[in-house]
Amino acid sequence: MSCATLPLHEVAAFGGCPIRRRLLEGQAAMIRMTRISVTVDGVAYSDEVENRTLLVQYLREQVGKTGTVIGCDTTNCGACTVHLDGRSVKSCTMLAVQADGHEITTIEGLAKDGVLHPMQAAFHDTHALQCGFCTPGMIMSSIDLLGENANPTETEIREGLGGNLCRCTGYQNIVKAVQQVAAGSASTGSPAGASVSTGVSS
Ligand code: FES
Ligand code: FES
Repeated sequence: MSCATLPLHEVAAFGGCPIRRRLLEGQAAMIRMTRISVTVDGVAYSDEVENRTLLVQYLREQVGKTGTVIGCDTTNCGACTVHLDGRSVKSCTMLAVQADGHEITTIEGLAKDGVLHPMQAAFHDTHALQCGFCTPGMIMSSIDLLGENANPTETEIREGLGGNLCRCTGYQNIVKAVQQVAAGSASTGSPAGASVSTGVSS
């Protein structure tokens, strides 16, 4: 039997096996650590991360920004979207070490002094969510979308949010929220946690 097929706990007995040693060296390289310095939601962090750590893992597990969620891990759903230097990125798509020296904004960094960002307020006003799992990524992508195109058509909004999937809403009210902000008619922000108009008359 080749020593390469042995389970890890038996490797010691094969300490001199060159194949197994190369495999172990490869695993050791994968868990090599690197120190990164980033700014997350306005706060500077300097942390040791494994080279293989995804940005979303770093944000959630080391920085504690659990408002950024993982929906797929395969770059499909957009739930993990954050801003890197002001542009939206899927944080499961890049490594934490690639964010070294950069500024990251998560959904948790949008509200200022307890006042919701206009896009957050618009999602609330238009009831642009149901379960809310896609919402952090949707909001981050929507802000970037309007940064690129302040007055998008409905088609442009739908295309611009093409990388963000929602299993609940059918997208209608998400589009309305973006249109509301684009039109400048979103509420200027409400104290976070306070009652906000739903925009639905009873
Ligand atoms: Fe990143 Fe789905 S978790 S795209
Ligand atoms: Fe449930 Fe979008 S509100 S996935």
